[in-house]
Amino acid sequence: MSKPFYVTTPIYYVNDRPHIGHTYTTVLADVIARFHRMRGEQVYFLTGTDEHGQKVEKAAAARSITPKQLADEVVANYTELWKQMGMTHFRFIRTTDEDHKAQVQRLFKRLLDKGDIYKATYKGLYSVSDEAYVTETQAKELQAQGLAHQLIELEEETYFFRLSAYQDRLLKLYEEHPEFVQPDFRFNEVKRFVEGGLQDLSISRTSISWGIPVPGDEKHVIYVWFDALLNYLTGCPANSWPPDLQIVGKDILRFHAVYWPAFLMAAGMFLPTTILAHGWWLMGDDKMSKSKGNVVRPDTLLRFGNDALRFYFMRDMQVGHDRGFSYEGFMDRLNADLANGLGNLASRTLSMIQRYRGGVVPMPTVMDELDQEMATQLLAVFPEYLEQARASNFHGALDVLWTYLRTLDGYIVKAEPWKLAKDPANDPKLDAVLANLYRALRATALLVAPVMPELAQTLWEGLGHTTKVAETTFHGFALDGPAIGPIGESKPLFQRIDKEKEMSDLMADPAPAVAKPSLDVPEIRETVDADTFFKVDLRVGKILEAERVPKSDKLIRMKVDIGLEQRTIVGGIGKAYEPADLLNRLVVVVANLAPRKLMGIESHGMLLAASDNASKPYLIAPPADAMPGFLVK
Ligand code: MSP
Repeated sequence: MSKPFYVTTPIYYVNDRPHIGHTYTTVLADVIARFHRMRGEQVYFLTGTDEHGQKVEKAAAARSITPKQLADEVVANYTELWKQMGMTHFRFIRTTDEDHKAQVQRLFKRLLDKGDIYKATYKGLYSVSDEAYVTETQAKELQAQGLAHQLIELEEETYFFRLSAYQDRLLKLYEEHPEFVQPDFRFNEVKRFVEGGLQDLSISRTSISWGIPVPGDEKHVIYVWFDALLNYLTGCPANSWPPDLQIVGKDILRFHAVYWPAFLMAAGMFLPTTILAHGWWLMGDDKMSKSKGNVVRPDTLLRFGNDALRFYFMRDMQVGHDRGFSYEGFMDRLNADLANGLGNLASRTLSMIQRYRGGVVPMPTVMDELDQEMATQLLAVFPEYLEQARASNFHGALDVLWTYLRTLDGYIVKAEPWKLAKDPANDPKLDAVLANLYRALRATALLVAPVMPELAQTLWEGLGHTTKVAETTFHGFALDGPAIGPIGESKPLFQRIDKEKEMSDLMADPAPAVAKPSLDVPEIRETVDADTFFKVDLRVGKILEAERVPKSDKLIRMKVDIGLEQRTIVGGIGKAYEPADLLNRLVVVVANLAPRKLMGIESHGMLLAASDNASKPYLIAPPADAMPGFLVK
């Protein structure tokens, strides 16, 4: 027998309750797990929480509770939510589980004995906010963004994983397995990163106490990513290894597509087949984050039903790309596709079968060209949907299906069954129309069952089945087979949302959907005297030219008029601004900053921008009537 299909989600940090980003990842995995079950496969689905590390330690300290207490609290949030949403994972793994701790220590020891892990002294720069050592290039980028204060000089003893030794094997893996990372454009980013050279990875910390101790050297705690990634191993029964599909957000792809396979290669284990990196749900142009106060929690959306949220996630997000979230977009989608589209088609079809045929689905005897066309389309839509879904593209699959459902609306308009019903001479034609509509709905119930399990079951029963749609397999399903019996009780599939009312309720919510942001900024820096401050020469400048620095997504090279002269300035604002939007903008320039080279370009000066650690940099803008060259004092 073939091995079970093994699918995973990332394990979630316990420093925050779940928001729709986390919910999306788990829904996607659950839809895929259900889909594979309906393909007749055995499925093993794992999710859980990532509980060690400095972030959790700090979040717990801020509330004067232990990290484990905080983790227990957040885990309860997760497990209750997943239960409410009917997730079908087999295990909810926690990195504080005893079997996991033992696993991490065992593997650490094995790689240490093998020489893939070694102890050495690290000397260099460390980014406090990222909890990571920083290369020179990264340090320059942070400096260019005005974030140099986050860097500290560090010298400490640490265990390294010999990542550098795996560069060639990783590149070979990527070449031989073009399916290893999806989508392709993300795979290219991974390849470029590895081609750029790999440094050994520090995998222990002495500055943290909340974590799994290094066996035999307990002042070291194992780095949270080494610990976290191994959850996929701890949580997997022996018969299911290796993972078939590992779903991750784009932000954590590097850990999964570079470090993770390298750890497994070192351990001599089989590698996952595919790492699927999805994009983010954004609010406007921003990432959803607690510190920005723009987080959408699933509870706000679940009042419209579990299936509604699942459908929206799958229908609106093209896996791999980012997608802006809006409450209005959410409601519009559900009204259009579920209340109108499918809901309407189902209720019309079932009531016509009831009214014209006493609930008995007719077998067509003749089909005219139009009827035949509809029947043929269904035969094409069904496998097309399955193929797209197999490639985890539910957005595309649902699009194909809903396009067909819309065609059926047009078919009803053209066929005018209410007129056909008036004359028994038209019976064969009416039979054909009703049978076509019935078959389309039956196929739809089956196809959407992984996405909307409850709605599909309601539709399935409405069509007369007494079985569980989720226990039916796609394979060999007779699309044009006869109905199982008379149609069942017709229940509405989806209640139309009163958008205006819901929007005004949302606005009046005592826990507003958009809460006051909390700031993610360091303490106020040490005092400087006025003389020191006045040494900094600040001037109004005007941006005359702007273009991206090749091979950098952050850096923009600008020509800036500062009154007395024109300067070339390279700024780390490329993620927040498009070059075209910078032209003719007034900015504040640090004019007497020593020139320095950024990616080979000499930058002479710096632009002032405001931000906290979480937000994008906002360029400081002098009033429109200020002149280039004005002193800022
Ligand atoms: N603990 C690590 C993962 C370790 S896996 C061995 C972690 N946790 S997380 O809680 O920060 O994020 C978990 C997942 O949620 C990531 O895949 C991340 O991309 C996803 N999302 C977080 N915010 C998101 C959106 N706004 N939109 C979509 N997914 C997002 O990283």
